Amino acid sequence: MTRPATPATPATATPATPATPATTESPKTAVSTTAPTGGCGCGCGCGGQAATTRFEKVCEIIDRHQRRGDRLIPILQEIQAAYRYLPASVLSYVATALGLSPAAVYGVATFYAHFTLEQQGRYVIRLCDGTACHVKGSMKIYEALSKRLGLGREKKTSDDMLFTLETVSCLGACGLAPVMLINDEVHGQVTPQGALELIDGLLAAERNQAKAE
Ligand code: FES
Repeated sequence: MTRPATPATPATATPATPATPATTESPKTAVSTTAPTGGCGCGCGCGGQAATTRFEKVCEIIDRHQRRGDRLIPILQEIQAAYRYLPASVLSYVATALGLSPAAVYGVATFYAHFTLEQQGRYVIRLCDGTACHVKGSMKIYEALSKRLGLGREKKTSDDMLFTLETVSCLGACGLAPVMLINDEVHGQVTPQGALELIDGLLAAERNQAKAE
């Protein structure tokens, strides 16, 4: 099933736990149901860890949203922007801080295609494989990029952690098909060669930056 993208505008209503993900399998990474205890001063329930651990940023985000459960989606969006993915430990932490069940938070994080529970590369390439893009050859682009980046069916991120490649459903720009996003930048009427040139450009920029540092 193609997962829906998150709403463009952060929802203000409490997100319903998605119509229960049909599977009864355990998630790949179990979400702890152990609630942190104590406090760091912001009231998020981090047990005092926030000041010195990776939860510090999460705590800031949660606090900015007044620890409201109905702000779960924008909170997850900001956390993902900060970490580039949603670590399982962070989901558990968010659940406790918002007073939600870990299952509810995990359900939202796995329901929307925008969210990922796996670490991603610096550049996330989202190639549209909706009908218009598919007809115009999106899979040829996918194959060219996969080959160049050394990716495979189960391997979505390059070894150097620079690129993650994934397919998504219609991006709403069918007139530009085939379309792909690199992070938030839209590229239309892409060809396999054009896609490879974009990758080469990013690699060259990375090399230049590394030299300059
Ligand atoms: S099918 Fe690709 S943008 Fe609509």
